This record gives sequence, C-alpha cells and structure tokens, in this order.
Amino acid sequence: MKKVLVATEKPFAKIAADNIKAIFDKAGYSCIFLEKYTDHQQFVDAAQDVDAVIIRSDKANQAVIENAEQLQIIVRAGAGYDNVDLAAASAKNIVVMNTPGQNSNAVAELAFGMMVYQARNQFNGSSGTELKGKTLGIHAYGNVGKNVARIAKGFGMNLKAFDPFVKAEDIQKDGVEVVESIETLYSGSDYISLHIPANDKTRKLINYDLLSKMPANATLVNTARKEVINEDDLKKILAERKGFNYVSDIAPDNAAELKENFASQCFFTPKKMGAQTAEANINAGIAAAKQIIAFFEEGDTTFKVN
Ligand code: 3PG
Repeated sequence: MKKVLVATEKPFAKIAADNIKAIFDKAGYSCIFLEKYTDHQQFVDAAQDVDAVIIRSDKANQAVIENAEQLQIIVRAGAGYDNVDLAAASAKNIVVMNTPGQNSNAVAELAFGMMVYQARNQFNGSSGTELKGKTLGIHAYGNVGKNVARIAKGFGMNLKAFDPFVKAEDIQKDGVEVVESIETLYSGSDYISLHIPANDKTRKLINYDLLSKMPANATLVNTARKEVINEDDLKKILAERKGFNYVSDIAPDNAAELKENFASQCFFTPKKMGAQTAEANINAGIAAAKQIIAFFEEGDTTFKVN
C-alpha cells in the first residue's frame, strides 16, 4: 500500500483535506496529515517512510529528502517550487511536480484586495483614489498574471505586461499591451503586480533603479515572493517618496522597520494568504492527489519540474 504524507504547516481548508483523503482512500493508498507543525524536524521525521509527499510552502529541503527512505514523488500543491531542493530530489530520482493554475484566481483576487485597501488609505476614512483609469503593469504573465488582467478589466484599468517567456500575441489577445522591457513597464505603470518566481535570476531584481522609474504615487503589489525585492532599496524609495506604496502578501525581513517608519505607505498580510481560500485549497489539493495517483498507476509525469 502506497503511503502519502500531506505536510502543511499552513493547513488546507478542512473540506480540501477531506477531499484529498477521500481520493487516496478510494485508490487504496494510506494518507497521513502533518498540519501546523512547529518544528521542521517533525516534517523530516514524518517523511521518513512515505512514498509521496504533498506540500504547500513547506520546505522540502535536503534534510527531508535525504531522510526519506522510499520517497518517489513530491507534489507542491501550488505554483512556486522554490521551497523544494530540486537538486537533492533529482539526485535521488525523486520526481517533483507543481499544480500550475490551481490557486491562481485566489492569488489574483488578493492582489486587488490589497490594491483597494491601499488606494483607500488603508480604510482610515479619508479620501482615497480609484483603480479605474489607472495603469496596471503585470510583471510576468503566467496563470496569476492572466487572472489579474481579467479582474483588472472589470475595474476599468489600463493594462500592460512584460514577460519574455510568453508569446506577445497570447498576451495581446487578452487586451493587454505588451512592453519590451521591464524599465518601460515600471515607468509607465501606476500599479505593478509582481508574478515572477524566486530563482537565481530574479533574486533582488526589484531594485532602486526600477522602483525610481515608477510615477510619483505608484504602488508595488507583491503576491509573488519576498526574495525578488531588494529590501534596502525598497526602504530607500519609501523614505524618498511619500507617495510610494508597497503592499505585500509576503512580509519582507525588514517589515517591522518599514511598518514603524512608513505605516501609511505599506501593508503586509500577517501570513501568506493569497492561495488561502477553500476553492484554491480544493483545486490544488485534489490536483496534487490525482497527480500522485497518475504517477504511480500510469507513470504520468506531466507536471514534473525537475
Ligand atoms: C504558490 O506558489 O502557489 C503560492 O505562493 C501559494 O503558496 P501557499 O500554498 O503556501 O499558500
């Protein structure tokens, strides 16, 4: 009997967890849950004798992978897999997958929740501004970026995107203008919504040079990863420009300092919650469970990322 571990420090909604369990029960697999764990060693220990693991932002690092004696597959129920040590997994022939697109609407909706919150002066009762008529620059046009464009049209925003990995016509057919450089995107956008992954090419990519190109009262919206921001440069621009705003679903390492000095210019969710909806949990959780079964039963590696 195959054994699957669902290791979620930030648990799925109960309905999603029940669905995952039911899928594995039906397939004759055993499924155990490690939720809200407080010590990473608990994950290391729980993965020791399992064949498959489902995670969210949980760190499937070298310690987990090396200690897992029979692990064959890790599925990140979500998009970004920067939390998985791909080299360590590949070295042990462990397949790593993600579930692209399954939680993207939830993340996109949160981007707008934060935009409205900041445009209305953090709901402090004073006169704010509207999103209608403003230009939104979408930095990377993947599943989340595409959903952001769809929702932005309802708000009456003008749309631009930069993504060298997506064909221009695929972006243009959504009614989004394609720009040829990051600099052009930032200089021409009142709002920038970040949807780039965290990797060696994007770490600290969002720096002073880029941010200083944005218009005076611009807002940077981050539902991607904190690692893509140069946090010292972010602090510098917040200090220099009283109209510059930063809203993020992933608090920066210098969050306390930013909140203390620039309270009206920034907002951070207390815990990453872009994908934290019942719908996204069900979509991503069920996809992960089905991908694991398809892998073991049919050798299906469609969503393999390593
Ligand atoms: C993702 O990469 O899918 C999102 O950042 C969501 O992450 P989470 O599952 O940890 O909420």
